[in-house]
Amino acid sequence: MIGSLRKVSNNLYKKSKIYKSLRWIISLRFFHFTFRFLIASFFLDKLDSHNPYKGIISKNLGFYISSVSKDCVKTLKRNYYENYESQCKVNIDKTNISAFDEIFGIIKKPIIDYLGAGVKLDGIYYFVSKKKSKKDIYDNVSVNWHTDNVGARLKVFVCFEGDGTKPTLFIKPRNITKSLKDKIKIYFLEVIRWFGIDNNTPINSQIELRHKESSLIILDTQFLHRGALKKSISQRSMIALEFSNPEKHRFFEKGISKGPIGTVASNEFYFSNELLDCKNIYQFFDQKRISKLGKISKYEKKF
Ligand SMILES: [Fe+2]
Repeated sequence: MIGSLRKVSNNLYKKSKIYKSLRWIISLRFFHFTFRFLIASFFLDKLDSHNPYKGIISKNLGFYISSVSKDCVKTLKRNYYENYESQCKVNIDKTNISAFDEIFGIIKKPIIDYLGAGVKLDGIYYFVSKKKSKKDIYDNVSVNWHTDNVGARLKVFVCFEGDGTKPTLFIKPRNITKSLKDKIKIYFLEVIRWFGIDNNTPINSQIELRHKESSLIILDTQFLHRGALKKSISQRSMIALEFSNPEKHRFFEKGISKGPIGTVASNEFYFSNELLDCKNIYQFFDQKRISKLGKISKYEKKF
């Protein structure tokens, strides 16, 4: 009985915009979001107050675009198709360490300049948007304007397959430290989606960060961004890396302020001992998150 009611409800949710909104309103998600937003706005500036916000990411107002070599692309692609397509977990070993060494060589200065020497790697994962059929051409991952509501946190996307037709849209702030006016603008743009209403209207100041083969893009998810709703059948395959300051993770661990930051099941990864000699990468590792499993190690959240 409950199962069939749920089925009817889910069908209606897909077909009727009014029903969709009603369900969101009844679930009081907008209220939850507002409460969380207010708490976070108050504490986040404090949690992020030690960030130096210097260097190229700050100069660009929240993002940085670079590229990796053809060899790096080749290695990531080979690894993904040979080993990980079904497993989906990243494994850094002697076959691909040069690719990761190159990536970390490019990103280390911009990341430390921006988030400070205390910044750590939270995780690495494959972020793949599969090739679509002609009937089903839209991607529907995070297409509404949003911030990740965890304050300053950098995501790095290294594209090893893609033609740039599935970009991330990003709104540059006027200042790297948000004014009250910026916060109010972010709140009203974000709260709409918690009423079940799609909010993906183009905004004059938006820029397109195009993910195409060999592009390396860093962005700070505390600023408004979304996946572009573009007609594209092409595949976009990327490695995503997340960086933040672990000191503030506790704030997001439970209760109303619980948020998507730190090391979780979806971004944990494996690495072999060769990595220990690679300072570019290893300097970003948080020792507390390493589990030794014989010849390999796992980077994961430990309690
Ligand atoms: Fe996001």
